[in-house]
Amino acid sequence: MGKRQDFDHMKLIRRYAGGALFAKGEISLLTFFMFMMLVARLYDPMQITLQNFAAIISCGIQCERLDEVLSTAPQTGTEEMNNKGYDIVFDHVGFSYSDDTDVLKDVNFTAKQGQVTALIGPSGGGKTTISRLAARFWDISEGRISLGGEDISKIDPETLLKNYSIVFQDVTLFNNTVMENIRIGKEGATDEEVMEAARLANCDQFAEHLPQKYDTYIGENGSELSGGERQRISIARAFLKDAPVILLDEATASLDAENETAIQEALSRLIKDKTVLIIAHRMRTIANADHIVVLKDGVVAEQGSPEFLSGYDSIYSHMTKQQMISQNWKM
Ligand SMILES: Nc1ncnc2c1ncn2[C@@H]1O[C@H](COP(=O)(O)OP(=O)(O)OP(=O)(O)O)[C@@H](O)[C@H]1O
Ligand SMILES: [Mg+2]
Repeated sequence: MGKRQDFDHMKLIRRYAGGALFAKGEISLLTFFMFMMLVARLYDPMQITLQNFAAIISCGIQCERLDEVLSTAPQTGTEEMNNKGYDIVFDHVGFSYSDDTDVLKDVNFTAKQGQVTALIGPSGGGKTTISRLAARFWDISEGRISLGGEDISKIDPETLLKNYSIVFQDVTLFNNTVMENIRIGKEGATDEEVMEAARLANCDQFAEHLPQKYDTYIGENGSELSGGERQRISIARAFLKDAPVILLDEATASLDAENETAIQEALSRLIKDKTVLIIAHRMRTIANADHIVVLKDGVVAEQGSPEFLSGYDSIYSHMTKQQMISQNWKM
């Protein structure tokens, strides 16, 4: 309605301006008609162009993003690994997502094979970044990260990832059955292998109650399952893969007691004798870790065993006290 009115308005102005010039004898009749025809032809396309201007700008931004992806060089490396064991060593590591701000500065620590190394610290400290760098999701700008003595930046990402089981919070599930969602952990695994992994990950408890048990479809990204159940599927995948290194991002979302115990049990089975790097949020996990790395603003503020760190006025002791207070907090 509004557009129609604008259009009529413009038509009037054109006619009036053209008519006035014609009346004054400043333009000929032919010029006047030519002008009218030309404007009528030009006006609509111009109006449509302006209407689409916002779409053109947003398209430009999308092209820039696409260009960024296409211009990023793919990571390459050797497909043969000669690692000795599976210790992960961060040696003077510096990293930034973009050029302007350093996310990690001079990070040094070792996650030993057969031990649980817990990353703790305030939000934004760089815990998730470290766990992703350990699996070469990005390449670092300074220092060296090694797995069993081998520089991971020289290993082909696909070869490297065969050594890792990753249980992050944002687990990706497909609109398929529980069975197929777990089988993703190991290509070509038999039904028996999948069921065994599911049992170890405490998936039995909920799968038995589903209408078609392990053959039940779980909806887009597992929408028909609870957070705890989704996480147990992710743990089952890790059991099936049985990789020597485990990267874990412990759930922050509050789970009900039953779910939490089931997950804790499954995790303690999973991490046995592996190199475990865990982003820990729960006091119980932290206290049971062999080595703790406290990250603050991208630097290792302190590190050591729980006993060592609780022996003085450390950030760790402070965090422990805070958690005790919040656990005892009542309405
Ligand atoms: N993909 C990304 N691109 C750019 N900056 C990022 C990206 N991911 C994280 N950052 C930035 O890097 C810093 C460290 O983030 P990181 O996610 O590693 O922290 P965190 O310790 O895991 O925090 P939290 O406890 O809240 O999960 C933050 O300042 C964050 O804004
Ligand atoms: Mg994080």
